[in-house]
Order: sequence, then C-alpha cells, then structure tokens
Amino acid sequence: MSRMTLTQLRKLKTTGEKITCLTAYDASFAQMIDQAGIDILLVGDSLGMVIQGHDSTLPVTVDDMVYHCQQVHRGSQRALLIVDMPFMSYATPDAALETAARLMREGQAQVVKLEGGAWLVETVQMLTERGIPVCAHLGLTPQSVHQIGGYRVQGRSETEAQRLRDDALALQAAGASLLVLECMPGDLAADISSWLEIPVIGIGAGAACDGQVLVLYDMLGITPGKRPSFSKDFLQETGTIPAAIEAFINAVKKGTFPGPEHTFNEK
Ligand code: KIV
Repeated sequence: MSRMTLTQLRKLKTTGEKITCLTAYDASFAQMIDQAGIDILLVGDSLGMVIQGHDSTLPVTVDDMVYHCQQVHRGSQRALLIVDMPFMSYATPDAALETAARLMREGQAQVVKLEGGAWLVETVQMLTERGIPVCAHLGLTPQSVHQIGGYRVQGRSETEAQRLRDDALALQAAGASLLVLECMPGDLAADISSWLEIPVIGIGAGAACDGQVLVLYDMLGITPGKRPSFSKDFLQETGTIPAAIEAFINAVKKGTFPGPEHTFNEK
C-alpha cells in the first residue's frame, strides 16, 4: 500500500475535506492510528514530555527522533510520515541539511517539521531545493518556550498577528509544503489558512484550518498533569483507544472538533 502524498493533501485543501493528524511515537500506536485511516502521522518532539517525562521538548536529540521515527514507520503503511527536527538541530542551514538527511535516510520520514518564522527562510529554501519537503510551524513554538515566557497563546496583539501573517507567507514562498499553527486566535488562523495555498494544520488554532493535529496522549487523556484547554479527551466518551482515534478522525472530518470551547479568541 502506498502512503499519502503532499499532492493528495493539497487536493484535500482544494476540495475542503479536513486533514487529520495525530502524533505517534511507537509502532503499536502507529499501526492502530494508521489503520483507522488518519491522513498524517507526526513523530513530534512532544515525545520529550509525554514519553521521556521532561518538562519541555528541549532535551530531545536527533538520535531520539530517528529511533521513534523508525518505529512509527515500521508500524504504519498509509499515512504521510512527518518528523520533528529537534531543538538546535537546524540552527544553521548546514545543520538542518544534515539532520533532515538522517531523519529521512535512517528514520524514513517523508517530511521534516521545524519551528520558527522568517529566520528559517534560507533553511527552508535550501532543504526544499534538495528534495526535502518541509512542514513549517508557527505560533506557540515549544522549542522557544523560554524566550516566549511559557506555553501561551500567540498573536493576540496586532503586531504579533502581523508578524505571524508575514512569516506564514514567507515560509510558503520559500517552499514549505505544509504549515502547523499552534495556539493562536481562531480568526487569525482562519485568515492565514485562507491566504495560503499550502495546507494549514491547526492545534489550538480554531476550526477554520485545513486540518487538525493533537498530541495522542492528550486526546487519550493520559498525559500527566493538566490537559491543554484546546485538546479533548476522546477516550473518556468512547471507552476504547481505537474508538477514541476513530471519534477524533470523524469529528475533524465533519468539522465538529475543535468547537468554540477549544478555540482562543483575540482578547
Ligand atoms: O511535537 C509535537 O507533538 C508537535 C505538535 C504539537 C504539533 O509539534
């Protein structure tokens, strides 16, 4: 069976069918999510928190990402496989090229994801010119948690919102194939999604994005501590893990998740 392609995802954006994405870190969950019919599996560096027990994603290494990507690749057959480039592994374009090559060659990822705005334009251009598809990530970028000053909603001031709009357009122009928007007002994410030609996947960014992603352990209600307000425990209402995954996919496809209670306003 062949995997989902970026061309197929673009088609979903054009037709208005919502794109579904969950994180996965091992073969068993990857297989279960893949068989449920998810469009994208993301090997997120959130594994630093939900698997390794750190209080941020910063300690995650390239070796960790390669290891987990290999597992998710072995467990899945159908979904597009995206992997996060971990903290400081793409601080320069040359470092990014080396990291991305490992994640694709050893981890078998189809797309690499990196966090940040305009400063990444040269890197995105360099990677895409060399045949490495890139998913950009704007808004709350957890690898910058100390600079941002905590896990907070982004883009609430007009200056910040304008910077995010400009960054999104610059990253698309540089060659990014996908964009993740995390934790920002729903109206701002809606504007960005409608302006861009590439699919925009939201997390805490409202229902108007072209697709939705959640951290698997948050949507199963097993992340230690407090669940983010934009997430939803699908296991609680379904009772089994396969049913929870199916409920997430159906809710996103139908446009019933996220609801207003999972969406941030401008103020
Ligand atoms: O690391 C991760 O799981 C992510 C998602 C929250 C988008 O980047």
